[in-house]
Amino acid sequence: MSERWTPDGWRAKPVQQMPQYPDAKALADVEAQLATFPPLVFAGEARNLKKALARVARGEAFLLQGGDCAESFAEHGANNIRDFFRVFLQMAVVLTYAGALPVVKVGRIAGQFAKPRSSPTEKANGIELPSYRGDIVNDIAFTAEARTPDPQRQLMAYRQSAATLNLLRAFATGGYANLASVHQWMLGFLKDSPQSRRYKELADRISEALNFMRACGLDLEAHPELRATDFYTSHEALLLGYEQAFTRVDSTTGDWYATSGHMIWIGDRTRQLDHAHIEYFRGIKNPIGLKCGPSLKPDELIKLADVLNPDNEPGRLTLITRFGHEKAGEHLPGMVRAIQREGRSVVWSCDPMHGNTITSSTGYKTRPFDRILSEVKTFFSVHAAEGTHAGGVHLEMTGQDVTECIGGARAISHEDLSDRYHTVCDPRLNAEQSIDIAFLIAELLKQERASKAEPMPAAAGL
Ligand code: TRP
Ligand code: MN
Repeated sequence: MSERWTPDGWRAKPVQQMPQYPDAKALADVEAQLATFPPLVFAGEARNLKKALARVARGEAFLLQGGDCAESFAEHGANNIRDFFRVFLQMAVVLTYAGALPVVKVGRIAGQFAKPRSSPTEKANGIELPSYRGDIVNDIAFTAEARTPDPQRQLMAYRQSAATLNLLRAFATGGYANLASVHQWMLGFLKDSPQSRRYKELADRISEALNFMRACGLDLEAHPELRATDFYTSHEALLLGYEQAFTRVDSTTGDWYATSGHMIWIGDRTRQLDHAHIEYFRGIKNPIGLKCGPSLKPDELIKLADVLNPDNEPGRLTLITRFGHEKAGEHLPGMVRAIQREGRSVVWSCDPMHGNTITSSTGYKTRPFDRILSEVKTFFSVHAAEGTHAGGVHLEMTGQDVTECIGGARAISHEDLSDRYHTVCDPRLNAEQSIDIAFLIAELLKQERASKAEPMPAAAGL
């Protein structure tokens, strides 16, 4: 791969999963316009996230990444954003306490619009139309007009991302995220949860810790550490023309950054070494993710790490593994050993969603809660066995009370799916299932912590 890099260098490479726009001029006009718009994030923030992820890579923090499979124009609103953020923070508190580690909070939000598809077209009632590729590309309605890629949608996606990010920043720093109220929400959640007995002990301990701090004279609202939080955004950088328009030189360092979000990732379908997505990603300095599915061979992974993180910079590369509950035990150890053998610093994160999608007997795409949890458990046990840090999770989730994944504490059934199935793409954990899984991951984190804290063998003479 050549050394020289420019933001448009990807255009000379073969590319997967890009929409066919009928009007090249209209597309170029929109991209030129986007290139004049203010960036969504600042390079300094991306560097802070990279530092936080470097701590995860060293085993000193845990990454919580989550949000919609695909954001939609129709569901854009303050309540949705607030409810997501609220659930996300409750998960973060539980994990912070159980792991006794800082939790790096990264939303799949404020830019998560473009979707790779397994087939470029979709057939229904004898008609074949382009597949829906996310609201930034086309409309989900099954008509020729709706499915025609429309570049104007990129302007809309930018505006929605900016508005979403603005509200999230306000929530994160304006007082909404203060620790005491997040804990109060969690207690409210537990009152209604069928699993509350199981979670009560952990919740009680957090209450006690907060009460202890208050008794010591600490005003929980007065300290920025307890009153505010760092929240970052991320998305799959699939639509490279859009990404290129937001690729800007950071004036403080002279480096190129993607400014469409703090962290961006490469999908499992677009990670070919000599193709456009890898070419784009190698030149930007943000922290990046790489989705690793069962078809990725360990030696290919090392080649990708060579290109994407040639300086082996901690926090630069997060490997997001997604195998499926039955395959994780078979594929993950080989990858971990290859990375260890080559001395690479990475964040290991588990995406237990994408390998566990099934079609329900009632016709819906769904994911069984038990399989999601089972892949997370395998992830933790493989890392425990290999002596590496189970660094984080990557979840598709919403703050709404939808019925898209089966199982969980409330045992959503195949028949229940039709009640509130709202996703425009993959099935998400609902609010309750998300907090459920956070409590269950907390138990795994506690085990990891306990096994690391094993008493040192008696050291006579020291
Ligand atoms: N600032 C700390 C953190 O982000 C503690 C904190 C404040 C927090 N509000 C929070 C943690 C909400 C989780 C959720 O980790
Ligand atoms: Mn998805």
